[in-house]
Amino acid sequence: MTGLFITLEGPEGAGKSTNREYLADRLRAEGIDVLLTREPGGTPLAERIRELLLAPSDEPMHADTELLLVFAARAQHLAQVIRPALARGAVVLCDRFTDATYAYQGGGRGVSLQRISTLEDFVQGDLRPDLTLVFDLPVEVGLARASARGRLDRFEQEGRTFFDAVRSTYLKRADAEPARYRLVNAALPLSDVQQSLNALLPEILGLYRG
Ligand SMILES: Nc1ncnc2c1ncn2[C@@H]1O[C@H](COP(=O)(O)OP(=O)(O)OP(=O)(O)O)[C@@H](O)[C@H]1O
Ligand SMILES: [Mg+2]
Repeated sequence: MTGLFITLEGPEGAGKSTNREYLADRLRAEGIDVLLTREPGGTPLAERIRELLLAPSDEPMHADTELLLVFAARAQHLAQVIRPALARGAVVLCDRFTDATYAYQGGGRGVSLQRISTLEDFVQGDLRPDLTLVFDLPVEVGLARASARGRLDRFEQEGRTFFDAVRSTYLKRADAEPARYRLVNAALPLSDVQQSLNALLPEILGLYRG
């Protein structure tokens, strides 16, 4: 049995982390084995790599270092958590995955898409998410939400141009592959966002149960 691999994507403060529990609860209410996880991270070792990636530091991190750390954490997460969960037939709900690499390291940092896609093939083989929910909202709304949360991490300290590129990369990818992506209007009040997620449930259940 193979499960279903769903990723939650979108810029800072879009509500991915807020809504992942909600979506997991809806699926569990259907009797489904749900594994909720996140990137970068998801295993103790990968969470240590996450700390390296997010901590502000006096030494600038080279874009290639950042890219390789992201994929190093992903390799560990796939081996320890994601692939075993899919193999036992679970729905894996992952808060950020490789679309975030295209958006942040590609769009934001300017790493070539070719380079990212080479690493994607290397680390993931042919594994890609079955469904990707893109929480979309105006950059300033997301940044205001994220900064209200407290101290800014290394990415949240970036400027407007960076986040415009992040958002537009997500939208471009969703537009290019509509079969895999669903856009969620994340600027709406939380109850409306949850209504949109409810509306996606039948499709998710259909994909899972085939
Ligand atoms: N629809 C919403 N309306 C208003 N506030 C919201 C909404 N969704 C989430 N928030 C609030 O915005 C903040 C950021 O939400 P959250 O941490 O879920 O975003 P995120 O997408 O996980 O961000 P990041 O990419 O930085 O991890 C939180 O304080 C959350 O309570
Ligand atoms: Mg989050």
